[in-house]
Amino acid sequence: MKNIYQTKLAKIIDIKKEAEDIKLFTFKFVNKKDQTRLDFTPGQYFILSVLGFGEAPFAYSSSPEEKDYFQVCIQEKGTLTSGLFKLKKGDKVGIRGPYGNGWPKEIFSKRNLLLVGGGLGLFPLRPLIRSVVLAPQKFKKVQIFYGSRCPELLLFKKEYKLWQRYTDLCLTCDRRSRGWKGRVGVITTLFDKVKLVEDPVVLVCGPPIMYKFVIQKLKELKFKDKDVYLSLERRMYCGVGTCQHCVVGGKYVCKDGPVFSYKEIKEMPQAI
Ligand SMILES: Cc1cc2nc3c(=O)[nH]c(=O)nc-3n(C[C@H](O)[C@H](O)[C@H](O)COP(=O)(O)OP(=O)(O)OC[C@H]3O[C@@H](n4cnc5c(N)ncnc54)[C@H](O)[C@@H]3O)c2cc1C
Ligand code: FES
Repeated sequence: MKNIYQTKLAKIIDIKKEAEDIKLFTFKFVNKKDQTRLDFTPGQYFILSVLGFGEAPFAYSSSPEEKDYFQVCIQEKGTLTSGLFKLKKGDKVGIRGPYGNGWPKEIFSKRNLLLVGGGLGLFPLRPLIRSVVLAPQKFKKVQIFYGSRCPELLLFKKEYKLWQRYTDLCLTCDRRSRGWKGRVGVITTLFDKVKLVEDPVVLVCGPPIMYKFVIQKLKELKFKDKDVYLSLERRMYCGVGTCQHCVVGGKYVCKDGPVFSYKEIKEMPQAI
């Protein structure tokens, strides 16, 4: 019988600093077969464990097309992440997953997409953007709205030139600041400043407060609830629907989500 908690060993093959407390880790499974068999949908996550520090869920940040390794972008927060930030290239961690549903891949080739990411919310959207770059023939038009508090906190800056070749990338920073010549204003202001891609499905990830205002804006613009998807974040332990820690409105965020359509979320009290 398949053990749903089975942890596989992965080696750190690269670590890059993305911001003051954020690092992009590149891993490769120690067992070659585990690496070749790895397949996931953008928006899915896995549970990472560091010996002596515990375990926590993290979204894949590379795309499924990148077969030789997988990446995750992590903010240092508490026990587990501080343990992980002490590790070096060559050190090993435990990985179990992939878990959850991911973004609705059945619509990728059929509908234009508008990705809306706020701050660290770009982490689970990046695999999708990298898929667009690596296999553009699988997608229709893709527009990205990405915002952060200030230019220093815009993540993956070195990749923007490449992303711009395949997507309409629209950036904004909440505050005016020296050296920033781009748009200023919270992410919802982009809806008034930029011509929207035609009739898109909207995929949203960001802090809870952003969800409230993005939903409000999408309602004003008469988007259908079923065309809006949001990724929810809850404290998780098992990741597989047994511990009950992530339950919201009768759904398990860990296994029914973390991605839900706004049509479903509307019926889930305190989901956002
Ligand atoms: C599906 C999913 C995907 C995720 N993907 C990423 C990712 O790609 N990159 C990333 O950096 N983080 C991600 N997270 C968040 C990450 O799992 C937590 O930040 C992690 O548990 C921190 O572990 P820690 O032991 O260092 O912090 P802890 O010691 O557990 O906590 C430190 C502080 O952070 C708070 N905290 C921890 N987890 C959460 C949470 N889920 N929601 C709200 N507050 C929390 C705690 O209350 C505490 O104040 C994801 C979470 C989920 C549920
Ligand atoms: S994390 Fe255990 S049930 Fe969802």
